[in-house]
Amino acid sequence: MPVAGQTVGIDLGTTNCCVGVWRNNRVEIITDYHGRRAIPSYVAFNETERLMGDAAMSQNAANARNTIFGAKRLIGRKFTDPAVQSNMTHWPFDVVSGPCDNPIIKAHYKGEERHFQAEEICAMILMEMKEITEAYLEKEVKNAVISVPACFNDAQRQATKCAASIAGLNVLRLINEPTAAANANGIDHRGCEKNVLIFDWGGGCLDISLLTLDDEIYEVKASAGDTSLGGEDIDNRMVDYFCIGICEQILRDSKMPKDQVHEVVLVGGSTRIPKLQSMPSAFFDGMELCKRVNPNEAVTFGATVKAALLSGVKSEKLSEILLLDVAPFSLGVESIGGRMITFIRQNNHIPCKKTLTFSVCKDILPSVLIRIFEGEHSMTKDNNFLGEFRLDGVLPLASGQPQIDVTVYVDADGTVTVSAIERSTGKEKKVTVSHDKGLRLLSGRKRGHGYGTLEMYKLSD
Ligand SMILES: Nc1ncnc2c1ncn2[C@@H]1O[C@H](COP(=O)(O)OP(=O)(O)OP(=O)(O)O)[C@@H](O)[C@H]1O
Ligand SMILES: [Mg+2]
Repeated sequence: MPVAGQTVGIDLGTTNCCVGVWRNNRVEIITDYHGRRAIPSYVAFNETERLMGDAAMSQNAANARNTIFGAKRLIGRKFTDPAVQSNMTHWPFDVVSGPCDNPIIKAHYKGEERHFQAEEICAMILMEMKEITEAYLEKEVKNAVISVPACFNDAQRQATKCAASIAGLNVLRLINEPTAAANANGIDHRGCEKNVLIFDWGGGCLDISLLTLDDEIYEVKASAGDTSLGGEDIDNRMVDYFCIGICEQILRDSKMPKDQVHEVVLVGGSTRIPKLQSMPSAFFDGMELCKRVNPNEAVTFGATVKAALLSGVKSEKLSEILLLDVAPFSLGVESIGGRMITFIRQNNHIPCKKTLTFSVCKDILPSVLIRIFEGEHSMTKDNNFLGEFRLDGVLPLASGQPQIDVTVYVDADGTVTVSAIERSTGKEKKVTVSHDKGLRLLSGRKRGHGYGTLEMYKLSD
């Protein structure tokens, strides 16, 4: 269905941002007032004004404590996250712990100390991109497809959407960066099935995805990466250790022998480092790397194509490609003894939905607490807690009786929704995992008091 208003594709990078629109039957990369196609992801504050992009970056040396960059490395993370702690040691601006363990960025602005969340800084950058585009097109921009690293977790995706919403953008879709890059000009997929490894190494993240491209279906087989390993963090030893390890993991996860990979595409500014070009080539036994893709704009290009398709543009040049992406992490709920019951496995295609039936082990309790986690470990304590909610009015059945159907749904953006229904009464509760409100509120309470725990009953799809 056509979407009202102008839609854009945005690559919201750790170091640089880039926007595209579908115009004159092709992707057009937006240029700023000076003709630049990429905008540095910088925001600076001083006594009189807020500066963005190049203007912010160029006064960095003189105003380092109030020049903010790398906000994508903070978005959706907790202050105590080791990646945040490690980044902070390199940053000249202050980051402190705020409510709910959120990292808060401090800056002096117009004579006052101001506190910003990473979402707010990213929203300022998105707003700048929106304004530049509106000036370029001479019309209002309403909707966006925004790229995120494939290895972004649920909290990071939610926080990116939150930033877009603060910036006044309606997010039609979050698209994984390597998946978007697979849509870029220059990757020829017509005629025969082709396995393509996209290697996206920008300023803040390394993301690798293996896709099978077949005329109208782009299927992500597996994807992996590291959101705390950007071009600014690496030395040669790390390149060998991490990239080869991640390439091997992806081939293993997708059960694809190395010699079945037909093409390796490098995107992202850090892939200009010669060692980063020789390493994947050597790993794939001297394979020549695909040079037809613009490494700086491939992600924007793919996001813009997706934006055009989702906003209902019809064009013979815009072939409707079905993108089958994957869940970056396994998703599940906690069962007795802190066990993780996995509903959706890592690298499962999304959107997807799965229902499992549980009984409640404490048969006299009228409430059951449903706790949701992401991660690959068998015990929930080792995984990432996403949220929890309570289902009231559970009837006192004998322990071990099938009682509650829990459904986990992941949409095309990777957003997680969990619902639980009490079979006998039909009572239902449904929540979208939200990191700002709702779900987390219960986490401060003492657990184990007054709530039953889910106990696995049997598998039922
Ligand atoms: N010629 C070059 N040689 C080495 N490194 C380069 C070169 N050009 C750019 N880079 C590095 O590329 C990085 C920026 O790349 P890019 O703009 O693709 O990142 P990004 O998209 O903002 O980040 P991410 O995708 O990780 O969020 C920086 O770390 C920069 O130092
Ligand atoms: Mg990038």
